[in-house]
Amino acid sequence: MSLIELPSPATQTIELLNVKFLYSMLEEITLGKPFLLDILPIIDSTNRYLLEKNTNQLHICLAEQQTAGRGRQGKTWVSPFGVNLYCSLLWPFTRRINDLSGLSLMIGVIVANMLENYGIPSTGLKWPNDVFCNNKKIAGVLIEVISEHSHLHKVVIGIGLNVCLSNVIDRESLTIEQPWTDVASQVDFHPSRNQLASLLLKDVLNYLPIFEENGFRAFQADWSNKDILLNQSIALKTPQGIIKGIAKGVNETGCLIVENEEGLHHFSSAEVTN
Ligand code: BTN
Repeated sequence: MSLIELPSPATQTIELLNVKFLYSMLEEITLGKPFLLDILPIIDSTNRYLLEKNTNQLHICLAEQQTAGRGRQGKTWVSPFGVNLYCSLLWPFTRRINDLSGLSLMIGVIVANMLENYGIPSTGLKWPNDVFCNNKKIAGVLIEVISEHSHLHKVVIGIGLNVCLSNVIDRESLTIEQPWTDVASQVDFHPSRNQLASLLLKDVLNYLPIFEENGFRAFQADWSNKDILLNQSIALKTPQGIIKGIAKGVNETGCLIVENEEGLHHFSSAEVTN
């Protein structure tokens, strides 16, 4: 009897997240320190999920799909099943809240560098933490904080990375406002979500203690090297209205510096609208 030959798995086959692989990788990095790992098939938002957990230990959550993925500025992060990375880390932070400034920029640097090491030739950063590739967004970072008291903060670091978003059959259904790309479109091999998750978590966990010790200043030069807004004419949406000027990089706490006829302005939060 001859068996019907099934086509070999197409490169588009969904690669589910592998709990065993990611757990053992995390055990290696955390060197015996306690941590929790949840890999969920579906959740509204991995950030929301972790914000409800206890603060006393590192807790990591990845999901195959988010039904209400949160983006910056109240936007939605499009999160279809099995194609991207939706990853959050709850990091108990025991210093002053001000010492967190620049954290989201530092995570942007880590994601951008990891992607370059993975084979994407050049990545750029758009303040504060959007990761770009050939003028298209490939990853975003959303940090949410609940302060328990002055020296205990529940910091949830959320990272969304487009890996194989272009494989989604019904692309029209992806209501993404700005030009986007994914890892699969930028490399000439089929990217592995497990490998990318492991590289990302490894780098984030290795660099968080450096941030805790030195703040954003340790990452400022790396961030500046990838600054795609530098010397560009920009408009910023602020609570005080639209401010126009020329982007002049960031300072040691991650504030964006904008120059116009009134002088230099520093912004710790705002939305770049162009
Ligand atoms: C942005 O707008 O650029 C930030 C996007 C952040 C998306 C990630 S996906 C994992 C985590 N959970 C969420 O709900 N949002 C973040």
